[in-house]
Amino acid sequence: MKNQTLFPLHNKGERAEAPHPAPQKSQDSTSAGVPQAHARRVYIETYGCQMNVSDSELIAGILTQSGHQTVSHIDDADVVLVNTCAIRENAETKVINRLQQLNHRKRRHPELIIGVCGCMAQHLRDRLLEVAPYVDMVMGPDAYRNLPMALNAVTSRDPFLGLRLDKSEDYADIASIRKEGIRAWLTIQRGCDKMCTFCIVPFVRGRERSLPLKLLVEDVEKLVEQGFKEVVLLGQTVNSYRDNGHDFGELLYAVSEVNGLERLRFTSPHPADATESMIDAIASCPRVCKHLHLPLQSGSTAVLERMRRTYTAEEYRALVEKLRERIPNIVLTTDIIVGFCGETEAEFMQTYHTMAEIRYDSAFMFKYSERAGTLAHKALPDDVPETEKGRRLKEIIELQEKISADINRALVGETVAVLVEGESRRDAENYHGKTDGFKTTVFPKQDSQIGDIVNVRVNNTTAHTLIGQISNIPCGGQQSLRL
Ligand code: SAH
Ligand code: F3S
Repeated sequence: MKNQTLFPLHNKGERAEAPHPAPQKSQDSTSAGVPQAHARRVYIETYGCQMNVSDSELIAGILTQSGHQTVSHIDDADVVLVNTCAIRENAETKVINRLQQLNHRKRRHPELIIGVCGCMAQHLRDRLLEVAPYVDMVMGPDAYRNLPMALNAVTSRDPFLGLRLDKSEDYADIASIRKEGIRAWLTIQRGCDKMCTFCIVPFVRGRERSLPLKLLVEDVEKLVEQGFKEVVLLGQTVNSYRDNGHDFGELLYAVSEVNGLERLRFTSPHPADATESMIDAIASCPRVCKHLHLPLQSGSTAVLERMRRTYTAEEYRALVEKLRERIPNIVLTTDIIVGFCGETEAEFMQTYHTMAEIRYDSAFMFKYSERAGTLAHKALPDDVPETEKGRRLKEIIELQEKISADINRALVGETVAVLVEGESRRDAENYHGKTDGFKTTVFPKQDSQIGDIVNVRVNNTTAHTLIGQISNIPCGGQQSLRL
């Protein structure tokens, strides 16, 4: 199937060259490949996680190299691709609503092609056409190579379905097209083998596969040449990365040595794969940020067992202790689910107390949302009432807001190293950037430039932001200070 596409294949482990940075509106990305008459102008709209953002960049690369053009305004497009998320029900509801809006547009412009890509396409498959019969293409995460072929095929009456999951598909030969900026997201692994019972990802993104280490180092070298200062390595369980005996720690070491790279991050690691080699790399590579997003999900071992997370609450706490011992300034953030199947009040309180004890810098918190096809959907009743899920979520959000505010307040008077990202949306006199620990920081520009790392003295804080001014006082190495 793959070899029948219009997209030229390259040797595995070797990227095609792509124009970079993605040119802006008037000269949006394009190159030769298909006859001009068939070249389409494609607008890509992205929902969901960073992996989807990264996949949209990949899709832009595939389309551009086959002679199509990506545009940054929907009014300029004759194809709209909606890259979707299926992780919770409300993510899918949002997309269905958006598709209805796009259908209104299609009524005014009947030639408009609407494609649905990503996790929701893979999850709902042809059922998507029952709710949105005007959709022309349904393309899962392993089918993007067929997008150029699909764009040609949709001229016929039938919609094009690309839904085969393919463990060998890693898009290693395809060069993504990214927007200009200081932070680049780099997918190092696709799919997930963990099978947490609540999670749809293994079903919609397929089996885990890693990209070659050598290729990733070359990718980072190119990103640095293109002007990116920070690279974020992406994977569903990023630290289970494995390439010919090289593990994730080795990848961190190798990538962090790329000349000119200022900062290296990654998301999201799985607690069960937090090896010594990974911890060593974070502790000893100065460019690897001292920030770990370490999803806990629940503080109850019984719930973790029902979730098949493969660690106990005690093991997770021991890991946090070890991380804080080895990397004293480490900033920890997490994901939590409340109201999972059978979660009792006592089990919920274990989550609450674990959060209070660990004191994360911030957390993404969710109500459990049953997903058709998952192991929990098949075997465990979704029996915590919606109002109760809502109450539990509100309680942990209140707790976390207070902890985040307290941790940030303790930074007042400290100096933090901030990588300058851009102008503050609220005030053109200010820049915003992130600390090493990924805290948003806002400060008057003075004579700093986007891409600089500046020392900012913190004067004021909220639960989510540090506010300060550029200071000549050096801060503690590359790390943001944490009390
Ligand atoms: N390992 C992946 C997880 C992706 S999903 C990563 O960190 O990139 C992100 C988070 O969504 C999960 O950690 C979990 O907290 C939440 N989540 C996943 N499935 C969910 C569901 N069915 N209901 C509610 N939250 C869910
Ligand atoms: Fe989902 Fe668990 Fe993998 S949360 S992405 S199945 S690690």
